[in-house]
Amino acid sequence: MNDIIPENKQALNHSLDSLLRPKVWDEYIGQEMIKKNLNILIAAAKERGQMPEHILLYGPAGLGKTTLAYIIGSVLEVPVHTTSGPMIERAGDIVSLASAMENGGVLFIDEIHRLSKNIEEVLYPIMESGSISIIVGKGPTARSVEINLPPIVIIAATTQVGRLSTPLRTRFSGGVMRLIPYTEDEIAQIAMRSATVLDIDLPEEAATIVAQRARNTPRVANYLLKRVRDYAQIHGTAITSELVQKALSERDIDEHGLTAEDRAVLKTIREAFNGGPVGIQALATTLSEDTRTVEEVYEPFLVQAGFIERTPRGRSITEKGMQYLQSL
Ligand code: ADE
Repeated sequence: MNDIIPENKQALNHSLDSLLRPKVWDEYIGQEMIKKNLNILIAAAKERGQMPEHILLYGPAGLGKTTLAYIIGSVLEVPVHTTSGPMIERAGDIVSLASAMENGGVLFIDEIHRLSKNIEEVLYPIMESGSISIIVGKGPTARSVEINLPPIVIIAATTQVGRLSTPLRTRFSGGVMRLIPYTEDEIAQIAMRSATVLDIDLPEEAATIVAQRARNTPRVANYLLKRVRDYAQIHGTAITSELVQKALSERDIDEHGLTAEDRAVLKTIREAFNGGPVGIQALATTLSEDTRTVEEVYEPFLVQAGFIERTPRGRSITEKGMQYLQSL
């Protein structure tokens, strides 16, 4: 418990992120292709009085995979239960999760690539037939009992679709859909919408600056917006473009959205490894980070922004990355 913020206000802060989530298709900005395809899949299933087939959403973190699962739940008018790959430790966890959803609904499994192999196998019959057989008893009296589960649609999300086995991936028969980075214009619209929800006075030019530094990611845009609001509040001033620039530069977030940690990655590749290629292990060790942090936190945006490239022999800094470092 944080003793600075009263308990009821803490609850308020926790719900801030869910407050910012769009609740219906019309509020969801961008990802037009996915929206169109999901809308047809969901509406058609609903019209038939069925649950849609299972869906796999993949793409970089923070692009709105969870948000889509909630929108689907609300269109279907069913509850959404969320869990994640690492949270499901035993095969029984998934069975009890599914059977607890009495009237069915959406089971959202985040980070599905981190599901263990034996649990993956429990998932197959659930996905295919909505039932599971379990062995009851031991030795000669052991027998298999078929349990019918409530009607559920599994919506799974991953940042690393390549890590999913083919048998698992192909069971998402409703579709395997890739979320793409948002355009700067879409991110500015999302920042404007979030500002309206939070009752923040955000001029359009200021939203543009937030968008330029938000790494094409709504979650980052909302995070920056909240930090800008804090800054304006503490300084007792209105939010202007200049204020956004100042607030974010003071947090070491530059005009490309890069942080000091991102720059350290680039500088290390250039200086310690002659521009690369360098293996992820050697890079992480030199940075005193673990490989997963480098792979999952820093690398995706640096690749997307064209500052580094992945080659079969490792990571290399690009011409654009070199020019960026020279401009500092
Ligand atoms: N907040 C987070 N993602 C969003 C999106 N795609 N559209 C509108 N608001 C969002």
